[in-house]
Amino acid sequence: MLAIHTDSGPFAAGWVEYCSKNDIAFRAVDCFSSDIVEQLQGCRALLWHWQHHDYRAALFARQLVYSLETRGLVVFPSRATCWHYDDKVGQKYLLEAVGAPLIPSHVFYDEKSATEWLRNSGVPLVWKLRGGAGSRNVKLVTTTQNALRIIKRSFRSGWRASRLHALDERVWAFRRAPSSRSFLGIARGIARAVRPHEKYRNQSTDRNYVYFQDFVPENDHDIRVVVIGERAFAIKRMVRKGDFRASGSGLIIHDPREIPRDCLRIAFDVTKAIGSQCCAYDFVRSGNDWKIVEISYAFSLAGYTACPGFWDADLRWHEGDFRPEYFMIEDVISHLKKDHIP
Ligand SMILES: Nc1ncnc2c1ncn2[C@@H]1O[C@H](COP(=O)(O)OP(=O)(O)OP(=O)(O)O)[C@@H](O)[C@H]1O
Ligand SMILES: [Mg+2]
Repeated sequence: MLAIHTDSGPFAAGWVEYCSKNDIAFRAVDCFSSDIVEQLQGCRALLWHWQHHDYRAALFARQLVYSLETRGLVVFPSRATCWHYDDKVGQKYLLEAVGAPLIPSHVFYDEKSATEWLRNSGVPLVWKLRGGAGSRNVKLVTTTQNALRIIKRSFRSGWRASRLHALDERVWAFRRAPSSRSFLGIARGIARAVRPHEKYRNQSTDRNYVYFQDFVPENDHDIRVVVIGERAFAIKRMVRKGDFRASGSGLIIHDPREIPRDCLRIAFDVTKAIGSQCCAYDFVRSGNDWKIVEISYAFSLAGYTACPGFWDADLRWHEGDFRPEYFMIEDVISHLKKDHIP
């Protein structure tokens, strides 16, 4: 029997749909309930789409996944798939450990080491918090003075998500596609600057570490490849006007001819090396090479519905509509079959 956490997480609807289409019995469970382990009695697998901004899930999702795998359940996302989710510091160590082409990334846990390093490295740098999406916590640092200010604050008052980000995003959405709807969005953005959304109000302060990446210049886009098992699909995301950041721009190209094969190859290889069921990669070009910006097991489905097909692990193209959520649950089911788990 499969279990699905049905109450939250956009992938869940696709998993439920897959089960009803294919006549597969499943049990709806609530991972937030204290008796979740008991609820899973008799189940052989659990699928739960927990998201980066779910501050409640972040308190225990990894611990639950680990515990269930110890008991022998197949879990999506597995621990290898999710332990580094929304944690760029964790990803740095992991990608370095498997020799993946990560953009050179630097982390410091005291002010003195960070300041000394900066003296030699210089700017420009990209400063990031370890969590966040949609470029929310990603900034280009072009002066040493500014880098020093960031380092200082990281070891003193620390950082909380910017109140103005929601407004910036909505102003950008309006400039990209002016309409009465996107104009109304600006009003909502102003309200969010005064009273941020619950998920941001509940975010903890980032403090006592500072994380920088080398800045890879002259990229007017990034390439995002998502690998699920033996399949990959991809998009090209253009940067916002006057900005170096592509994520969250909403300017997406779905043409597969725009996707370099090197990115697909690297994405398949690294997914295998880290043992992930599902992994999204952001790539930027550095000279002749493609470098990984960050990785993530979860992604926004909307960005990929217009993908005209996918590649298999031999990089053969398969034209046609597909559902990423179906790929995920198909792989869980075939894992159960392969291991003869009833
Ligand atoms: N070191 C870098 N050099 C050049 N461009 C970068 C670098 N790091 C990030 N970018 C650009 O900024 C964007 C946002 O960075 P990043 O992916 O790290 O942030 P994020 O908020 O976690 O994004 P996502 O929504 O993809 O999870 C990237 O899509 C890329 O275009
Ligand atoms: Mg990204």
